[in-house]
Amino acid sequence: MGSSGGRRAPYRRAGDGSRFPPFDKRHPPASPSPIRLSRPPALPTLSPVSEPAAKPVVLTCAQPTGRLHLGNYLGAVLNWGRMQDDHECYFGIVDQHAITVPTVPADLRANTYACLAQYMACGLDPARSRLFVQSHVTGHTELAWVLGCLCPLGQLERMTQFKDKAARQESVRAGLLTYPVLMAADILLYNAAKVPVGEDQKQHLELTRDLAQKFNHTYSDTFVIPEPYIAATGARVMSLQDPGAKMSKSDPNASATLFITDSADDIRRKVGSAVTDSGAEVRAAPDKPGVSNLLQILSACSGRPVAALEDDFRGKGYGDFKRAVTDAVEAVLAPVRSRFATFSADRAELDRVLKAGAEGAQRAAHRTLAKVHRKVGFVERPR
Ligand code: TRP
Repeated sequence: MGSSGGRRAPYRRAGDGSRFPPFDKRHPPASPSPIRLSRPPALPTLSPVSEPAAKPVVLTCAQPTGRLHLGNYLGAVLNWGRMQDDHECYFGIVDQHAITVPTVPADLRANTYACLAQYMACGLDPARSRLFVQSHVTGHTELAWVLGCLCPLGQLERMTQFKDKAARQESVRAGLLTYPVLMAADILLYNAAKVPVGEDQKQHLELTRDLAQKFNHTYSDTFVIPEPYIAATGARVMSLQDPGAKMSKSDPNASATLFITDSADDIRRKVGSAVTDSGAEVRAAPDKPGVSNLLQILSACSGRPVAALEDDFRGKGYGDFKRAVTDAVEAVLAPVRSRFATFSADRAELDRVLKAGAEGAQRAAHRTLAKVHRKVGFVERPR
């Protein structure tokens, strides 16, 4: 505090030449008069919908936990990437959500960068979309507070994921309970119309819709009511060792999960040891869950329908089939793996991406937050 150079101008009374720009620059005071007791009635009406020509807003977020697997890629991230041209996309890495359960700080930081590099390797493009870290954008926790003040406690206590996760913790933290309110804020802050989420997040999205409606009803129309977005082409990839369960990054069996950064050797070994079923035909059937899963994977990676693949392998054995699966997965993942190596080696570039993403996201977030604060009756933030 030695020099006054970096300090903000001290408070000065209005009317002595200082200006108090409004929090929301889009709605400057209508008159230059220094003191106004109420807003003039002629302000433009605030619409929850942006310009007619604007692309629909898509937002999705993921926690920075570990590595993405083939199921994440084929079932989700690949589709997010395909939405980038005709949607305004926001892809958030939600580090504030991550600390609702115990985390190791160094791991959280490393995983955040790794997560970004993996998303970029999968085709999420910072030139077309906003890739950002949740804690970099002011507004997520602020909006969560306001929404939390509208949210019935009982609804949070009934969340399936809360009950599951709470049962696994020795002591349950308040953040675990209010997690879905923060998620609602992530979505509503950007007025997202479509939210790609997995089945396990649908209940949270339902809560988000309830809170948006509650806010709109309590104050006035503000939020777009978001819809879950389930891609038509999302592949459902199961564990290679237990095809009755979804492929999971936390599977204790190291051969069950194909990570997107696995080496060619890893892929060959894991596909080679994937469980198959009795009988020798390559055919999708309820009593052949292992072969069915491999057919799904091969189909998603090669673009050939399952029925055509069944024809291809008529009269051939599991050995030929697994070699084809290995080659197809390798063909899809090799470029992802090499892009990941390039991106993750350039920390400065990752930081530039995050800076640009945060700036883009912050502009939108600021606009919503200003509107929300005004509607709930907070006095305009002095600047
Ligand atoms: N809860 C989500 C998950 O665990 C992550 C998440 C946080 C999210 N905020 C979001 C997903 C907003 C979609 C939109 O998978």
